[in-house]
Amino acid sequence: MPSSVMSTSKRRGGDHSSPAAVSTVGLRKSYGDKTVLDGIDLRIPTGSVFALLGPNGAGKTTAVKILSTLITADGGQAQVAGHDIATDPQAVRAAIGVTGQFSAVDGLITGEENMLLMADLHHLSKREGRRVTAELLERFDLTEAAKKPASTYSGGMKRRLDIAMTLVGNPRIIFLDEPTTGLDPRSRHNMWGIIRELVADGVTVFLTTQYLDEADELADRIAVLNDGVIAAEGTADELKRLIPGGHVRLRFTDPAAYRSAASALRDVTRDDEALALQIPSAGGSQRELRVILDRLDAAGIEADELTVHTPDLDDVFFALTGSTVPVQSAQSAQSARSSESDPSDPSDPSDQPKETVR
Ligand SMILES: Nc1ncnc2c1ncn2[C@@H]1O[C@H](COP(=O)(O)OP(=O)(O)OP(=O)(O)O)[C@@H](O)[C@H]1O
Ligand SMILES: [Mg+2]
Repeated sequence: MPSSVMSTSKRRGGDHSSPAAVSTVGLRKSYGDKTVLDGIDLRIPTGSVFALLGPNGAGKTTAVKILSTLITADGGQAQVAGHDIATDPQAVRAAIGVTGQFSAVDGLITGEENMLLMADLHHLSKREGRRVTAELLERFDLTEAAKKPASTYSGGMKRRLDIAMTLVGNPRIIFLDEPTTGLDPRSRHNMWGIIRELVADGVTVFLTTQYLDEADELADRIAVLNDGVIAAEGTADELKRLIPGGHVRLRFTDPAAYRSAASALRDVTRDDEALALQIPSAGGSQRELRVILDRLDAAGIEADELTVHTPDLDDVFFALTGSTVPVQSAQSAQSARSSESDPSDPSDPSDQPKETVR
């Protein structure tokens, strides 16, 4: 179901009138006769978080590598921080930081030495290098471990060190390729906090992730990459509205009221045991709810509970990628699945109670 959504809403950062931090037109890349990227168009406003989603092998890392000038594209154009990746890769490199999918940490040396090495690569003076290293190690809660070999760090500590190393050059745009894969829930939340802090400082974040709840949580805009093209692009809410599966659920405690409601309303699915009715919904707009409530009023019935269920990003992902295998852990799938939105503010369910009970 290829579709594209134009944004009208904005969550946190990402003013659409501001210059793009990253923009691409018709970006292409093949390996042999395998086309990985088949014409990718993106525009990522400065100061926003953009999440690139897609199944394994979709080309997320390839896109990150092209935009960070580690590999070249076969066709199309891209500008990063206002510089053309093909004609001015040095200027692009000076403006960005990249945390790859696989750790760049050297396990044989200490965390501090890894940081100082990065400072050297960025041509910082010895004194400035030590200052930045101490500051970042502190910020990422690595001061205590600073003098231990990085091979002794846990996965979460290595990932934090990875990002700390990326920040040594004070980049304004950072690429994070699966920043939280393999982290436990607490470490993931800590990493989200770190990413939010970066955004609060005005940094633009381009992240790839397998965790749909992560994209939902962090990203201003999300693109789903499938079969070499962007299958859909928009805010989490816009993407969720693209696919069916939303419904309004009414629950009753009085069996007589339940039966009357079942005959008063059209198109209902009954759950006789729970005394609940389900009505297909296009997103739980006020008008839609009013129609339902007016019908109930006219029949003199009051529901004891009304809930609006919108499809979650899992549903979107499966619908758009035709994937049958879940791409995320059961635990994060569970948290994503339980997300339901508040009809009073369809623009941003993440800041609202997940369920509306009337
Ligand atoms: N150097 C290479 N040579 C040949 N094929 C490659 C090369 N790098 C990537 N590919 C292929 O390109 C496709 C996209 O790979 P890529 O790593 O970009 O996917 P991805 O979306 O990041 O996947 P994952 O979620 O597993 O990280 C895959 O089919 C991969 O096998
Ligand atoms: Mg990858």
